[in-house]
Amino acid sequence: MSTAAQYAVFTGCIVDTPVMGQLRVRINGVLGIDRSSGRIIGVAEKAELLPAELVSAWTGQSVDSKAIETIQLTADQFLMPGLIDTHTHAPQFSFLGIGHDLPLMDWLNKYTFKHESEFKDANLARKFYKDVIKRVVRNGVTFAAYYGTIHFDSNCVLADIIREIGQRAYVGKVCMDANSPAYYSESTEASLRDTEEFVKKVLGSQAEEANKQQSRLVTPIITPRFAPSCTHECMAGLGALAEKYQLPIQSHLCENPSEIEYAKSCFPDSPSYAHIYHQRGLLNSRTIMAHCVHMSDAEIALMRETKASVSHCPNSNLSLSSGIADIRRFIAEGIPVGLGTDVGGGYTPSILDAMRMAAVSNRALIAFRRDSGVQSAPGSKDTPLEAAEALYLATQGGARVMTMDEHLGSLDANKLFDALVVDMSTPNSPVPSIEATPAVRDAACPIEAWKMRIEQFVFLADDRNISRVYVGGKLIHTS
Ligand code: GUN
Ligand code: FE
Repeated sequence: MSTAAQYAVFTGCIVDTPVMGQLRVRINGVLGIDRSSGRIIGVAEKAELLPAELVSAWTGQSVDSKAIETIQLTADQFLMPGLIDTHTHAPQFSFLGIGHDLPLMDWLNKYTFKHESEFKDANLARKFYKDVIKRVVRNGVTFAAYYGTIHFDSNCVLADIIREIGQRAYVGKVCMDANSPAYYSESTEASLRDTEEFVKKVLGSQAEEANKQQSRLVTPIITPRFAPSCTHECMAGLGALAEKYQLPIQSHLCENPSEIEYAKSCFPDSPSYAHIYHQRGLLNSRTIMAHCVHMSDAEIALMRETKASVSHCPNSNLSLSSGIADIRRFIAEGIPVGLGTDVGGGYTPSILDAMRMAAVSNRALIAFRRDSGVQSAPGSKDTPLEAAEALYLATQGGARVMTMDEHLGSLDANKLFDALVVDMSTPNSPVPSIEATPAVRDAACPIEAWKMRIEQFVFLADDRNISRVYVGGKLIHTS
């Protein structure tokens, strides 16, 4: 595909979920982008004008057709916002799928720390992270919040590779100055110093780009691994750094009963696990807390009051027997919720998998409550999570968790063009053809057919269906 043209105009089916529960399908839609800004310049339900006329109208300038590439989608392709992974660990691809019979704390001690510690070798990072990022991109993830390791050099390598490949990301230097094995821990001083150096390096290396979050590809994120692996001084220092540089923050919260007990035993003066973070300046509207499976009413209230977000990691929560997070309750409370793969707690980097795991685990929770006579929690409701709701969590919901919802998450004018071309009929597609799906073939109207097709996408598709991946208007992957 030529990348010379400044503008591109797509025609075909455009799918997104600007609001939870609302599937917007523009069957014969048209969408224009300006490659120099990386943004959508206009979208319409129908192409009633020629591309040059449309682009001229959208930009308010006379644009020649030579400056426009036109891309016509096929009848079984659609354009959608890129998938957002709000919680994953880049080094943990090295033991993917191993040790899930162990509960969280044993899994961390037996596998995670050991394999993460190997990234003290930046050469290993250089070889390994390239394949990791390519794999995540191939799965349609345009924006991810990564944990690296404690090692400064390897984290810089990770940030460089992400930028070279062109994915959008938050990258965190993991901080661990307490209760960690000698071979994988750091002093408080080194933890804070290396974090600030990493922040400066990542921000500085992109100084030539407008140094605003929305146009910068890689942004550092403050990353205390979880309360038990950090001292008070470390977390308070990280809270101050997050404030000084106005950075996002990520950590783990209330994942597993033994972990919660352990966290409380490390900080006996805190009223709850969530308060440990709050008391050290780490809970605010830029905070992403992963898991949140076993939360008290007071902790949910604290998340709501501080405007912190939840990264829901259903594959990991099921794989490590952690439990099922009641995301309906968080949503009812107004707490932003997005999806995370939590590789390697979860066994796949696929956000499509996270969507279906979110739906299936929600249904398991409903069935459990029904069969055991347990009432749903206040504010929650026992209605199965629909495909369109899962799609929202993976796109606009994720963008909100990453505090980028003004710029990402749906296909609207002025948003950054982080998007996928999905092809439902690629060779060996796990989605059956329309011909082989009578419900779709014989649907009462095209919109009904597309709704079912999107449901099939959510429940059946995989990376074979992710045909093209765009970040900031740039094509970064074709299958
Ligand atoms: N809690 C602290 N570290 C981790 C981790 O690496 N994965 C998961 N799932 N939980 C954690
Ligand atoms: Fe995690």
